[in-house]
This record gives sequence, structure tokens and C-alpha cells, in this order.
Amino acid sequence: MNYGFLCRACGLRLSFQPGTSRCRCGGTLLVEYDLERARRTLTKESLKHRVTSMWRYRELLPVQSKDSIISLGEGWSPLIRLHYAERLLPLGKLWVKREEQNPTGSFKARGFSAALSIAREYGINKVAVNSNGNAASALAAYAAYAGMEAYVFVPRDCPGIIVEECVQYGAHTCLVDGFIHDAGKIIIDGQQEQGWYNVGTLKEPGRAEGKKTMGLELSEQLGWRLPDVIIYPTGGGSGVIGMWNAFQQLKQLGFIQGDLPRMVSVQEAGCQPLVDSMASGSGFKPQSGHVDSSPTGMRVPHPPDGHLILSILRESGGIAIAVSREEILQAGAAYGRQGISASPEGAAALAGLTRLIDQGWIRPNDEVVLFNTSHAMKYMPWKLAASLPVVKTYQDWLRAVK
Ligand SMILES: Cc1ncc(COP(=O)(O)O)c(C=O)c1O
Ligand SMILES: [Zn+2]
Repeated sequence: MNYGFLCRACGLRLSFQPGTSRCRCGGTLLVEYDLERARRTLTKESLKHRVTSMWRYRELLPVQSKDSIISLGEGWSPLIRLHYAERLLPLGKLWVKREEQNPTGSFKARGFSAALSIAREYGINKVAVNSNGNAASALAAYAAYAGMEAYVFVPRDCPGIIVEECVQYGAHTCLVDGFIHDAGKIIIDGQQEQGWYNVGTLKEPGRAEGKKTMGLELSEQLGWRLPDVIIYPTGGGSGVIGMWNAFQQLKQLGFIQGDLPRMVSVQEAGCQPLVDSMASGSGFKPQSGHVDSSPTGMRVPHPPDGHLILSILRESGGIAIAVSREEILQAGAAYGRQGISASPEGAAALAGLTRLIDQGWIRPNDEVVLFNTSHAMKYMPWKLAASLPVVKTYQDWLRAVK
């Protein structure tokens, strides 16, 4: 095996195992690869001829046999310039990575493709996740494709369409009277008795590894360079953790040089443990007070390893900011006017950009990449159509638009 675990907190090395990602010191275990060996086949040239999914980076994913790979075509999402916004805003270049184009309409597909491929390699076929929604529907789809049994636990105010999706993919779907961490406790309590393989955030190695491919792709799509700033809507944090890990590996492989991007985590006001911990100037503290934010993927008051997210933000020279519900709505509409279907999380990243430009934190020459992590469609309240005119003839239409 050309990979093993390395603890981000204490530096301990352990052999790779499927069902854990926690060191005995409490730190997060990330997968470390034999990069000398990887370099023999993973070259900039070889990548030009590879599959356009995240599995193009197979040397950097912890799966041994090609037959274990469970893929619905995730990854290699478009990275497009936002020319219209660039003309309005004082910044260098602006891109959006269109993660909503993944299977099941969110970036969560990447993590589950990796996690369930590992599960298949180890003969596991009963999987469970706690989620704010998108991870649940992604797990449901990948488990269905792999012929595994899926159990998903989501807060009761999870957007209805996402719950429908889980049921449609055949997952045992349960609504929980509580937050994502309450849902997680149900899995931990039942895990032994039910034989569930827990694919919750940072409970196993695959999800962070799958999300790592966002960072690998971003660099390749920009011609093996990186932007000055990455703005990412953050909840459990495995996106930030995965991407930061990607950049380290690309550096070690010699694929990129120079400074790494300043990482920005955006949260919604009312559930902002990263923002508050960053402002306190000391260690990470989960949110203990009242949680008052919308049911989105950013609503994670107790991320499993907030210390690690915070240390990455600090190491990168980044920041965590909270944006209001109103700013998110406005940014979603602004994205819509540019032809981009953005979920509240994706819109929050755009709202964060506006805020950071106003504060002077983003400078006029900065190159920025936003992550649009999911589709607006998964969250639509159906109220836009209700105010539209209904017509039968052209004359009706003329009257209605007058
Ligand atoms: C659409 C969307 N964006 C962002 C996030 C937060 O991602 P992470 O867990 O990587 O912080 C989630 C998580 O549920 C999500 O569904
Ligand atoms: Zn450790």
C-alpha cells in the first residue's frame, strides 16, 4: 500500500484503516502518500489524457484496486470567469468553480465517491450519515449505485426537495429533531448494534480525500497555479481541510510553487463558531449559545475538528466571516442575473466577496475563486413562480406585462 495516516496535530504515522480518521491525541488523521512513487505515473503530461472526473488523480486517492471505484462522473467541474462581476468590482480576476454540476447537484458527490470506494474495497455495505442535506442525498445516490444500504439522518427543517431526493434514491431516511451533531449522535449510539459504517464528516478518511480533488482540479484548470484568495462556504470544514491538503501535496510533487491562497471561510450569522473563534484570537470553541441561522450546509455549530480549520485559515493568512440571510439572498439573486444557479451556501461565498472588498481585505489586484457548492434548485421555496402572470393568448400576455 502506498499510503498511510499522518496525524495533523501530533505528527504520528499509522497504517491506513477504513473506519477512522481520529488519532489517539484527538487530532485528525489525513492520508499521506508515497509521492515519489506517485510521481512516476502522475505527471502534468499524463493528466492531459485522463478521465475527466476526480479519478484522474487516482494516485492521490486511497483506493488500491480500480474495481473498487464507485463513480457517477463526479469532479472536473467547470471553472468559469465572472466577467460581468469583474467589471463592477475592484479586483483582479474572478472565477466560480461550479460544484453544483456534480452528480446530485453538490460538491458532496466527491467525498462519497471516495468514501464508498474505500468501503467497497473493505467489503462494507451498510453505510450511515448525519447531514444538513446534500451529504445525505449524495450518500443515498452513491450507495444506490454501489448496491449498498444507506441510512441518512437530517435535521427536520432540511429542505424538502433534498429529503425527497434521499427517499428517491432508496435511502432509509429519518428526520431528526435537532442539529447535525444531534443526528450524528444517533449514528454513534446505533453504530455497533446496526453495523453501520459511519461516513459522517471526519469519521473516515474518504470524504476529506474526495474533497481534496477540488484543490487539485482548481490548480490544474488554472494552468498549475493558484489564485490569491479562495472563498468557501464552511460548515464541517472538510472542504477547506481537503483543499489545503491538496495544495501541500501539489507543492511536494513540484506541480506548483510560491504562495498558497488565503483561505476564506464564510458562515451565516447566527451560526458562526469559526468567525467567533478567529476573532477571539485563541483556540477553537464550538458555538454554545443559541443557533439562529438557516438550514444550510453552513449550519454546523460543533464541527468535528474546528481546531484544524482554524489553523488552516490562520496559516494561509485567511479569515472567517459571517454574512446575513439578507446578504445571502441578494447574492443569490446577483448570481442568478449572471446565469449561475447558486444555493444559499454558494451565494454566501459571493456575499463574502462583496464584504471583503468593502473592507479592503481583498485588494484591487487579487485573483479570487468562489466555490458554488450546490444548486439554487435544491432550496427553492416555489415563491418566485407564484407571483407570475398566467396567460392563454398573446393579448393576455400584452395586458399582463403592461
Ligand atoms: C452546499 C454546501 N456547501 C457547503 C457546505 C459545507 O461544507 P464543508 O462541510 O466542507 O464545510 C455544505 C455541507 O453540508 C453544503 O451542503
Ligand atoms: Zn495525533
